[in-house]
Amino acid sequence: MIDLTGRIAVVTGGAQGIGAATVTRLAEAGATTIVADRRLEPAQELAATLGDRVHARPVDVSDSSSVRDLVQSVVADFGGLDAWVNNAGIVEDSRALDMPDEVWQRTVDVDLTGTFFGAREAGRHMTAHGGGAIVNISSIAAYRATRPEHHVAYDVSKAAVAHMATVLASEWASAGVRVNAVAPGYTNTEILKGVGSADPEVMAAWIAQVPQGRLIEPVEIANVVVFLVSDLASSITGQVVHADAGYTAW
Ligand SMILES: NC(=O)c1ccc[n+]([C@@H]2O[C@H](COP(=O)([O-])OP(=O)(O)OC[C@H]3O[C@@H](n4cnc5c(N)ncnc54)[C@H](O)[C@@H]3O)[C@@H](O)[C@H]2O)c1
Repeated sequence: MIDLTGRIAVVTGGAQGIGAATVTRLAEAGATTIVADRRLEPAQELAATLGDRVHARPVDVSDSSSVRDLVQSVVADFGGLDAWVNNAGIVEDSRALDMPDEVWQRTVDVDLTGTFFGAREAGRHMTAHGGGAIVNISSIAAYRATRPEHHVAYDVSKAAVAHMATVLASEWASAGVRVNAVAPGYTNTEILKGVGSADPEVMAAWIAQVPQGRLIEPVEIANVVVFLVSDLASSITGQVVHADAGYTAW
């Protein structure tokens, strides 16, 4: 039922993990899809496997001019911009009392400021050209203090991008732009390595906190994102969808 034929979609941090699954699903639904990532080579490799509808572009979401250039080049090359997924994210495990300034700043720059830059630049185009849909990737870490790992800079950035969806949805609803967020639970991607997934005790502790008793696969998050940018979600804006295998139910 989801048909995105003729739509132009951008996924930041699209080269791997949840982003790559989202790129794949958007392209399968018919959208011309841009894989935008700080690492161009894996983005190009992904695009090459997915056929003519998928294109790679470099972006550093923490740099507003880089994000602006991306939006301008997408509009110039493909003729519009209908969907934007703020997916790029980083996390570094550190207790608050030990957290170096650089880790705080780097995390906020990418996860919070980078999401705002993406939403603002996409929103500028969409509000002026008949609408569109934006999705911010938040996290269970916005709603719970995760354990045993600690990463307060990540947690508060993810809380902020969830609320950002509500605020921007309100500002832009009359211009036909919907803004939502998805809050994934522990999902089977590279990012988990940085917070201890190689340690069987950490993995067991995570699984014990998940009602479904498992990690989520990236495509399960991608399916929610594709629904939210599609016309099936036409009345949904300013919301956070918890795709977390039940984590926040406990
Ligand atoms: N995997 C999980 O358990 C989980 C849970 C909740 C939320 N998330 C969120 O989902 C999103 C995707 O994460 P993932 O699990 O696929 O991780 P990942 O590390 O596999 O992928 C992240 C991607 O973002 C890119 N990236 C990082 N910084 C960037 C920047 N400044 N500019 C552009 N691209 C940049 C990386 O190159 C990489 O391709 C992130 O926002 C993450 O916080 C993940």
